[in-house]
Amino acid sequence: MRRKAINWNDIENKFYDDIYKKQAEQYWLPEEIPVNDDKLVYDNLDKDIKEAYEHILAGLTLLDTEQTVGITEIAKRVDNLFQKSILTLFAGFESIHARSYSTIFQTLCNTKRIDELFLWVENTKELQKKVNNIISKYQNINDDEDLFMAMIGSLCLEGICFYSGFYLPLWLAGQGKMVNSGEIINLILRDEKLHTIGVGFFAKELLKKFDENKKEELNKKAISMIKEVYEVEVEYSKVLYEKLPYIDEVITYIQFNVNYALSCIDLEPMFDITENDVNPIVMNGYSTETKTHDFFSTKGNGYIKTTKVEELEDEDFYF
Ligand SMILES: [Fe+2]
Ligand SMILES: [Fe+2]
Repeated sequence: MRRKAINWNDIENKFYDDIYKKQAEQYWLPEEIPVNDDKLVYDNLDKDIKEAYEHILAGLTLLDTEQTVGITEIAKRVDNLFQKSILTLFAGFESIHARSYSTIFQTLCNTKRIDELFLWVENTKELQKKVNNIISKYQNINDDEDLFMAMIGSLCLEGICFYSGFYLPLWLAGQGKMVNSGEIINLILRDEKLHTIGVGFFAKELLKKFDENKKEELNKKAISMIKEVYEVEVEYSKVLYEKLPYIDEVITYIQFNVNYALSCIDLEPMFDITENDVNPIVMNGYSTETKTHDFFSTKGNGYIKTTKVEELEDEDFYF
């Protein structure tokens, strides 16, 4: 078998080069953020908010744990060497994300509580269902159609499944509470947004291989999967926000993100929701700017590295 080396000098692949550079420039580690400063604020939060916050972090840890390896399943199966390279780069960031939640846990919770939370992850059926739904697509790739659906699964994970969890940390940070943990969430969100755009693009490229009838059929399958993921996400959100009055706003936020994920594969929005319908405090986090940390924090020297990064804009990916 003749093996080909990846040639990044090929100018035909500017989009791939742009997305690779964008991800590499976004490199960060949780140690750059002074999460310790949140401890006092945390201790004084309402107990139901604390509980939801802890469950949220635990649930997000599961998503990033699974996606670290999950996304490499897709990398293994794509032919395009640039896509392989980018997906494995993304995987490294998923690993950073999964680890960063532990940095927050170490600050906020004792070992006993952390153990309870990891057990909660295993015992929460709505959470297990939402993750299994996607992982099953990664584990059953036998042809290009399966590969397409695995990419749609990844689009759902990156573009929809995180946002029920992101809502509360963004909402709190936007009011000056838990700003450092919120900054970590912001950095993760910035990566996930890039991953959504990337995986969406790869899915669109793959779709070009099929004839018109098949394209239509696959788009229908994608929409039906996205709808199913949305429904499971709402179920899980009801568990997370059971004792808090935010569920309607959380659902609106998820719907907004469903529409965004659909736009990444050139499909029509599913919900009649615009940016203006989302809580502006939370939307501010979605804009992926890093100003929250700079504004509130007195430390974070190493953070200079990430603040130099240009804000990610959709226009960056028009080519
Ligand atoms: Fe992630
Ligand atoms: Fe991701």
